[in-house]
This record gives sequence, structure tokens and C-alpha cells, in this order.
Amino acid sequence: MATLEIKDLHVEIDGKEILKGVNLTINTNEIHAIMGPNGTGKSTLASAIMGHPKYEVTSGEIILDGENVLEMEVDERAQAGLFLAMQYPSEIPGVTNADFLRSAINARREEGQEISLMKFIRELDKTMEFLEMPEEMSQRYLNEGFSGGEKKRNEILQMMMIKPTFGILDEIDSGLDIDALKVVSKGINEMRGEGFGCLMITHYQRLLNYITPDHVHVMMQGKVVKSGGAELAQRLEAEGYEWIKAELGIQDTDVVTEEA
Ligand SMILES: Nc1ncnc2c1ncn2[C@@H]1O[C@H](COP(=O)(O)OP(=O)(O)OP(=O)(O)O)[C@@H](O)[C@H]1O
Ligand SMILES: [Mg+2]
Repeated sequence: MATLEIKDLHVEIDGKEILKGVNLTINTNEIHAIMGPNGTGKSTLASAIMGHPKYEVTSGEIILDGENVLEMEVDERAQAGLFLAMQYPSEIPGVTNADFLRSAINARREEGQEISLMKFIRELDKTMEFLEMPEEMSQRYLNEGFSGGEKKRNEILQMMMIKPTFGILDEIDSGLDIDALKVVSKGINEMRGEGFGCLMITHYQRLLNYITPDHVHVMMQGKVVKSGGAELAQRLEAEGYEWIKAELGIQDTDVVTEEA
């Protein structure tokens, strides 16, 4: 079993504090969902875990199986088993999807242990078929001209090929049609198991109808303010966030939605 621990994490962007003490522990074999109003720091948490340079960790810890993640460069974090599917995946013209995937897989392997081209192609074909992706997508430049839904599906392809220990999925369900939502969920459920833990950021219960989370967390004001099981997501869908604010005495003016 592996563990990703986030302890009292404080993060600033351009001198403004966005995360104000996030605590969260994810084990492999667990799926966690984070929900919360716009602008409360969910994507900031994802970027900080992955080591985006714009997000300055001012205090707190991120520990992956006893190792200090904050001391690792972005590529070292990926090698250590962390994977982020971004809310807005970037386009990389000039690099084909297949080339990108093969380098990403090999970056996690020792020298001399690289995946053979044959094995890579076999696995890529199989996974793309599983995700109902047209074959030509593998030869297109990464995300270039991909539709919103195609980008999201492609993030799941990457995750299934790279096989990270922890996948952080930022709004993987946004912009998906019903069939794509089912396919993306099928991919995530396929990863579920002993060697994989997942943190899904989502606004909607819809995704959680297909992937039952073990834990649901609510993020507000740059903190995890409430945690529960799958039923918490159902209540949020039905009632919104006002009841949590009332329960915890959170004032709207405290919420970090205003522009700096
Ligand atoms: N690169 C950046 N530069 C300036 N401000 C930023 C940057 N990234 C995030 N912020 C600010 O930090 C706050 C939290 O943003 P974040 O993207 O983490 O929210 P979120 O919870 O993911 O929201 P959403 O549900 O809308 O995706 C917002 O006020 C946002 O404007
Ligand atoms: Mg976001």
C-alpha cells in the first residue's frame, strides 16, 4: 500500500494565499472526490501537488510513501508515481500523442528497461480500443485541435498507459457527453485497485454515479472543511453549499473568490 499525505499545506500565488492549511491523506485502493465552489483552490491543490512553479508552497508537507514530494522537481514527481490530468490540458504541437506516451512511460523506467516498441504499440492499441478512441488519435499532435471531450478522454489514455500510483483528475468530467462520461469512468474504474489511488476534483454527482468514491471532501476558503462518504456528494448536489457554510459559520466574504 502507498500513501499520499498532504499536511497543513499553505500555497500562495503571486503573494496571495490560496491554500490555507489543507490536510488530506489518500491511500492506494481508495478513490477520493473533492468538491467545492468555484475559486476555492481545488486546481491550486492539484498544481501544488504536481509542482507547478507558479504555486509557492509557503508551509506544510506533501509526503509520498515517506518521501518529501516538495523537494522533487516536476519530472521526479511523475517518476515517483504522481499523475495530474489538468482541468485545461495543454496542447503540445510537434509531439505526437504516441511519442509523448512512450517517453512518459520510459521516464518511469530504469535505463535498459525501456518498453519495447512492439509491446508499447500492442498496449496502446488495446487501451485506445478500450476507451473507444479512433486509431488516428495516436498520431496526432498532443491535444492539438482535440475537442474538449477528446482531451479528457486522452488524459485517461495517458493515465492508463503510464499507470501512476496516484492519479489527480481535475474536472475530468467537464464537457463530456453522456457516452464519453461512461467511457472515462470505465477507464478510472479499470485502474481502481491495490496499486492505485485517485483524487477526483468534480462539481457534479453525475461522475460519482459511475465511480463510487470512498471519501468525499468539501473544499472552501482554501481548506478541506468537511469530509464524508458518497452520501455527502448526494447532499451537495441536492442542497448546494449553503448548509455547510451555515453549519461551520463560514461568511461569504471569507471565501477566496474575489480577485486579488
Ligand atoms: N496562475 C494564477 N494566477 C493568479 N491567480 C490564480 C492563479 N491560479 C489560481 N488563481 C486564483 O486562485 C484562486 C483559486 O483558483 P483555483 O483554480 O484553485 O480554484 P478552483 O477551486 O479550482 O475553481 P474552479 O471550480 O472554478 O475550477 C482563484 O481566486 C484564482 O483566481
Ligand atoms: Mg479548478
